[in-house]
Amino acid sequence: MNYNTDVLVIGSGIAGLYSAIKISEFASVVLVTKKEKSESNTNYAQGGIASVLDPSDSFENHIKDTLIAGAGLCNEKTVEILVKEGPSRIQELIEIGTGFTTHGGKLDLAREGGHSFSRIVHAKDLTGKEVERALIEKASKTPSIRILENALAIDLITEHNVKNLRDLPISSRHCWGAFVLRNDTGTVEKIISRATVLATGGIGQVYMHTTNPPIATGDGFAMAYRAGAKMGNMEFIQFHPTSFFDPKPGNKSTHSFLISEAVRGFGGILRNLSGEAFMVNYDSREELAPRDIVARAIDTELKKRGEEHVLLDITHKTAEETIDHFPNIYKSCLERGIDITKDMIPVVPAAHYICGGVLVDEYSRTSLTGLYAVGEVSMTGVHGANRLASNSLLEALVFAQRAAISIKNELHEFPVCREPIPDWDDSGTLTADEKILISHGFRELKQLMSDYVGIVRSDLRLEFASRRIQLLYNEIEDFYKKTKVFDSLIELRNLVTSGYLIVKSALLRKESRGLHYTLDHPSPDNSDEPKDTIIQNTYQKS
Ligand code: FAD
Ligand code: SIN
Repeated sequence: MNYNTDVLVIGSGIAGLYSAIKISEFASVVLVTKKEKSESNTNYAQGGIASVLDPSDSFENHIKDTLIAGAGLCNEKTVEILVKEGPSRIQELIEIGTGFTTHGGKLDLAREGGHSFSRIVHAKDLTGKEVERALIEKASKTPSIRILENALAIDLITEHNVKNLRDLPISSRHCWGAFVLRNDTGTVEKIISRATVLATGGIGQVYMHTTNPPIATGDGFAMAYRAGAKMGNMEFIQFHPTSFFDPKPGNKSTHSFLISEAVRGFGGILRNLSGEAFMVNYDSREELAPRDIVARAIDTELKKRGEEHVLLDITHKTAEETIDHFPNIYKSCLERGIDITKDMIPVVPAAHYICGGVLVDEYSRTSLTGLYAVGEVSMTGVHGANRLASNSLLEALVFAQRAAISIKNELHEFPVCREPIPDWDDSGTLTADEKILISHGFRELKQLMSDYVGIVRSDLRLEFASRRIQLLYNEIEDFYKKTKVFDSLIELRNLVTSGYLIVKSALLRKESRGLHYTLDHPSPDNSDEPKDTIIQNTYQKS
């Protein structure tokens, strides 16, 4: 069954749900999500949402902290928007029914790395789950939102899908919705819309060790790139310093359990296996330095000592306090054999977040008319070269609201396609009986990205990665063209394209800045204004 709607939203994390709720006030929305509606990075967020909510804090402080973390590459205009519009968005979440933790009748505000003030609003250590619950409840009760689960967007619909429009220049492209695979029936449906909001989240699954759940396969980045949208700063991958290290072979899950930054904010100390607190040797802010510095310090410590993990020590706090603040981390570590009130927690860095993405303006508009990008898939410029902790959920809220404002003003000016948009055509393709190519492809990609494009990079490693990814890319494209689509094929294709974009951007940045650290250019290039890395696919797809 094909659909027609005013607005198509792709993704049901905080960015997609919040956009849909805002847009539903003036237009009809179809929201597609590739698994169950709660499955998203959002659902796993622990620490919380940063915002200026205490009268003794200030917008200037939050702006300054964000700019410092961003290492000279933040867009100051969007940072100001983020910080100043944040408190109203948090208020709206509360009105929608989000139950944040309070203390003495006021919001309990926690502290995290890089923040000069306690400003993290949270729901214990399960903030994302609570936000997701409240937003899903609201969206499900809204008649003008139709949610389709197990509906995986394959590609955006633009002129390149329409025979007589295919040769028009990329600079004048529109987006009119997407082709979507319904996993329950195996059919591909066409969802035609006047505007489309990409809210597909992150990319963590391109690495071997990641805090991101299996949905984070970079679909939005790859779809937007294929459609010709401009992409920015894809080299800036944030590795979270502290994910749980599971030493038992066979305990390899699809993603690593996060030990929130808030644990360090609460007084957690990082120690090497000799028990030495080592952060003092790396940065005067010690455990509360921004996470690129902490992750690199851990990486250096591990390489120097030849060890597999470091330890996070919170045993000096009372058991009551620790369990009250971090009930989920306490329980989850206990299930893994660690009582955090008595034992130090084995931790390693893991891929966590991407600061770059589909380039947008301050109203979340991409370079294609009718296409918006919000949340982790977008690049608003607020994070620059490194994201400040707990600014991601805030960015999703602030810029989803701004996408809704822009769509309200522009929806009826967007042209409808003047030619009929054809249905999905898979004639001549075969059903795959070589699934080993997919599982091997995932393994190979993750291994090469982890070995060559990790926390510390070099020109040689990146060149090796580039050649291998190109090979994988060609093989997957070839297989894709011959095969009836299925979910893991689509995801691998997108993940390989995402890896390709990360490597390509990393090769273009001949300096170390924020999250991009390379041995061949170990300092920031201060000879000129810092620049964003912009990539666009300009070949005409047929
Ligand atoms: P997501 O929440 O990832 O949602 C993406 C949605 O798109 C999902 O529903 C997915 O299924 C769907 N989707 C993807 N591809 C397709 C497709 N092809 N077709 C259809 N649907 C698709 N940030 C903070 O600010 N504070 C925190 O405390 C914090 N903690 C974190 C803890 C963890 C463990 C992780 C992984 C991240 C954390 N982050 C935190 C980062 C933050 O959670 C994410 O950046 C944010 O949730 C992204 O929201 P989103 O809506 O953009 O994407
Ligand atoms: C955390 O709780 O440490 C994650 C916070 C974030 O990613 O912003």
